[in-house]
Amino acid sequence: MTPPPPSDFETNKETRTMGNKIKITGGVDVGNGYVKAALRGENGKADKFDIPSGVALVTGAVDLPTPDTAAVEVVGGDIFNELDVTFASPLVGSTHRHLFGRRALKAQTPRFEEFDVVSGISKAEQSLTKVLVMGLFAGKALRDYVIEHGALPTEQLDVEVRVALALPIDEFREHRFAFAESFKHGAHLVTVLNFETPVIVRLTFVDVQVAAEGASAQFAIRQHGVALAEQLLVDVRKHGQALEGITGQDIFDATSTVGIDIGEGTVNFPVYSGAKFNGDASRTFGKGYGTVLNNSLVPLKRAGLPFNSRKALADYLLSEPSPLKRAEHAKVAAIVAEQAELFSEQVVEEFRKILAEVGRDTEVIYVFGGGSGSVRPSLHPKLLEVVPEGTPVLFLDVSYSRHLNREGLLIAASLVEDQVAAQKAKKQAPAAA
Ligand SMILES: Nc1ncnc2c1ncn2[C@@H]1O[C@H](COP(=O)(O)OP(=O)(O)OP(=O)(O)O)[C@@H](O)[C@H]1O
Ligand SMILES: [Mg+2]
Repeated sequence: MTPPPPSDFETNKETRTMGNKIKITGGVDVGNGYVKAALRGENGKADKFDIPSGVALVTGAVDLPTPDTAAVEVVGGDIFNELDVTFASPLVGSTHRHLFGRRALKAQTPRFEEFDVVSGISKAEQSLTKVLVMGLFAGKALRDYVIEHGALPTEQLDVEVRVALALPIDEFREHRFAFAESFKHGAHLVTVLNFETPVIVRLTFVDVQVAAEGASAQFAIRQHGVALAEQLLVDVRKHGQALEGITGQDIFDATSTVGIDIGEGTVNFPVYSGAKFNGDASRTFGKGYGTVLNNSLVPLKRAGLPFNSRKALADYLLSEPSPLKRAEHAKVAAIVAEQAELFSEQVVEEFRKILAEVGRDTEVIYVFGGGSGSVRPSLHPKLLEVVPEGTPVLFLDVSYSRHLNREGLLIAASLVEDQVAAQKAKKQAPAAA
């Protein structure tokens, strides 16, 4: 006897238990300054967001937990900057509560963890990288569940994670395999404490891709096609490089390129030769725009313009001054520009070493990353002095160029997912007659 078709109720029941299994695919660019993430759940929509790269560690219970009934409203907002989680994972030593994002910056705690850019410990080996990645996937799982079901889950959420991550080029060479494997061993439990009822999220990493920082951005630039190349040409011509007879298509077709990804704590130089990532010629320079800001603090203080931290200075520079404050703003900017000048000299020095290696083959230079806009006035002319004549030096606008790495990473993770799905479909398809 064939079983009766399932009633709606049964189907619902099944979806409900099945509903606790969630697949998420993501690209996460864990920067020294900011985490740039693009996480896609089963509804196909990717959440794209930034959070500062730091967590606040706090002990004790939550003082005023948010009622469960507010879950829909809270996850509809910027949950990733509000996360409050604990970990039970071989990758995280601390059992304290970890507060994320802007909430971490506001927290009253002496323990704020951020990337140690001085000691030389690899990002791959700092547990903060893992804390940030796992916390964000747990947050995304909870967000998707609550949006779909209108309430918090009553059981544990099981998440199948596919992710692409990036490491600075020097660390990529040494650590990429161990870094990817570290996620795949053991179970990782993340408990989200944002609401009265804690929610346990169990993460299983089924695929971890690791790319070199900057290289993932180059990958994304290619995906933008000829249209982006044309836009970049217009911009660079406005800045005085004539590049007569060169078209967007020429730029797009270039297979030997050097990228300059100017971040907070590092500059990565991904080199492509003959359309392939050239790991030998690519390198990381251990200073970034954050170094420029840091080095500006003492001269600013001397000039009677003190700032408490480089973050405070960064915020000030990004803000628009009122007419009365314009003169002061300009004075601050001029002092920072002097430091940017010194930094640009060092970047060009590093860049020359690469040119010495790959030299005349280089067809196009791309400059991007959060610091690229601010150092452009000093860096652009210096680069033009050292590149072979007629080589386009293209600066990508900071508004989107900070996000190129995460875009490339999401594409990389999705490609693997699609391949696996295609293989599965092939196996299941009846043999062709
Ligand atoms: N809109 C913006 N938001 C945040 N930071 C910005 C912005 N525009 C410029 N910046 C500057 O860009 C820097 C951060 O750049 P980016 O996010 O590329 O670095 P990162 O990837 O975190 O660092 P790294 O690549 O060294 O690991 C900061 O120093 C900041 O001052
Ligand atoms: Mg970066």
